[in-house]
Amino acid sequence: MKSTLMTAAAVCALSIASAGCVTVVDGSWDDDGVSVELIEPLGAPTSASAADAGQAVTADGAAAFVAQAETRLAALSEEAARIQWTRATNITHDTMWLESRINAEYTELQVELANGAARFNDVEVPADVRRKLNLLRLGIVLPAPNRPGAAGELAEITTRLDSTYSVGKFEFKGRQITLDEASVLMAETRDPAEMEALYEGWRTVSPVMAADYARMVEIANEGATELGFADTGAMWRAGYDMEPDAFAAETDRLWEQVRPFYENLHCYVRSRLNDRYGDAVQPDSGPIRADLLGNMWSQQWGNIYDVVAPAEGGASSYDLTERLVASGYDARKMVETGEGFYVSMGLEELPETFWERSMITRPEGREVVCHASAWDLDNLEDIRIKMCTQVNGDDFYTVHHELGHNYYQRAYKDQPFLFKNGANDGFHEAIGDFIGLSALTPTYLNQIGLLQSVPGEAEDIPFLLKMALDKIAFMPFGLMVDRWRWGVFNGETSPAEYNDAWTANMLRYQGLVPPGPRPENAFDPGAKYHIPGNTPYTRYFLAHIYQFQFHRAACQQAGWTGPLHRCSVYGNEAVGARFNAMMEMGQSRPWPEAMQAFTGQRENDASAVADYFAPLNVWLTAQNRGKSCGWEA
Ligand code: ASP
Ligand code: SER
Ligand code: ZN
Repeated sequence: MKSTLMTAAAVCALSIASAGCVTVVDGSWDDDGVSVELIEPLGAPTSASAADAGQAVTADGAAAFVAQAETRLAALSEEAARIQWTRATNITHDTMWLESRINAEYTELQVELANGAARFNDVEVPADVRRKLNLLRLGIVLPAPNRPGAAGELAEITTRLDSTYSVGKFEFKGRQITLDEASVLMAETRDPAEMEALYEGWRTVSPVMAADYARMVEIANEGATELGFADTGAMWRAGYDMEPDAFAAETDRLWEQVRPFYENLHCYVRSRLNDRYGDAVQPDSGPIRADLLGNMWSQQWGNIYDVVAPAEGGASSYDLTERLVASGYDARKMVETGEGFYVSMGLEELPETFWERSMITRPEGREVVCHASAWDLDNLEDIRIKMCTQVNGDDFYTVHHELGHNYYQRAYKDQPFLFKNGANDGFHEAIGDFIGLSALTPTYLNQIGLLQSVPGEAEDIPFLLKMALDKIAFMPFGLMVDRWRWGVFNGETSPAEYNDAWTANMLRYQGLVPPGPRPENAFDPGAKYHIPGNTPYTRYFLAHIYQFQFHRAACQQAGWTGPLHRCSVYGNEAVGARFNAMMEMGQSRPWPEAMQAFTGQRENDASAVADYFAPLNVWLTAQNRGKSCGWEA
């Protein structure tokens, strides 16, 4: 994730978020001659603040209002980001207290400005001013209603939820372990009883969150209604330069494009798990047991490559984790290597302060938010990452992901405050993932000395299978998290149904089941960071489409004619320049324009995923011949 309020990456992740966390088009979506009002007009502004009162309801008044809003948000967002950083890197009673207070203040400012912006609904204003007015109304992750105490209560809850997750530990083999330890064990163990204990153990941290979560939903929905939205989920779906319902339909369409690949992968993996563990653990039909896949949330499956590798000639000649360890990598070297990729494309080195101020390993003697994030504290130069880096393949990848956020933040730093954000939030997540697609190629790993030689064609299927275990397996997870939240926010799912609805989504989208019955008080959604952390999740689904669109376009620009999975843009400054030009646009224009600037196409398009994985899909289809694939949901 990136972690700031709109620009100061921290607020988005922390549930308050600022305008920049969401995107809207210029009031109406009129590029193709269609004109659609994006959101219902607001009722009478509930807070005619001192700041609003000064400006006439004219085009000049709107411009002055927006300028003043940007100044106030910029100042408060920097203060908020510094406090949020302090809390995230040192969780104590006092840092939580400070963060709740500043987050409440920031939310109140956002709500005030959103209401103030509504005064200009009927005024004709230049396109960039209209876009900024819309961003003010849409850019709040969790709005508070405009009544005394509401923002404070909301902020206390969100800080408590995030902190509860972050300090979570559970007993495993007679010892208290953290999530980072549990994740490594989950990746490495091949003992189903241990996997089950890890899966169930981590989920003991979250039942305590359920009541807070339900209360949070009530408050945020009250706030969203006051801003003219049906509920908070509708507000989230409004951030994509199209109508909220059209956006939901668009995610359905994209999922239908990739679903056959996922079902093929699911079928193959299920069969290999059955070979390995037998019918009692994993039958060769129906859903897959969620804890067998090498990841705490079954969201990426690459860690069990060895279990599902093709029986004939499937051994991959290298294991990235083993190569990193053998080459003496530490956290710093991992981050320097990531920076090196961006620099090779002609982008600037990270500032000295990045190295002085980032947190790249878990510190001793204090509690921190280990979930990786990238920050921009002053909306200019003070960019950092915060992660508890381990020397393994997953974190090698995550480093490239997080630095993508920082390079995006730096590229758009000269935009006006309200445009300092991703073209949409999926773009922000896709930047580093796009770089990661090149950085994982054997060609590149060989160039930087991690591999002695580049494997030949015989390793194409093993490589693609490993990539699919991470990328294709992720897609239904990327979708189901917010499908759950949309249902929670719109009231279809009551608090009593929280856990069953989550389990039902696992089954429906991923074809997975928990290893055993869940306890009465289970709140499994709370055991996934982005739920207590209040980070919208559809962005990751989109990023898993966008990164392949970016990759295919970049490889074409580089003149690459070979298979897409072997293409690396390392060292390509021409691609880097065009990529940076897209990033420099920030959120200043509707996202299709940013997409077009880099790829030449304006759409969300999963055909790039199909192109990349085409050889694997042929192979999987052959492996699955005669099997009855799928599951009953
Ligand atoms: N960047 C990842 C995410 O966006 C962080 C992680 O996987 O730890 O949440
Ligand atoms: N980084 C996101 C997560 O941890 C998506 O991979 O879920
Ligand atoms: Zn991210």
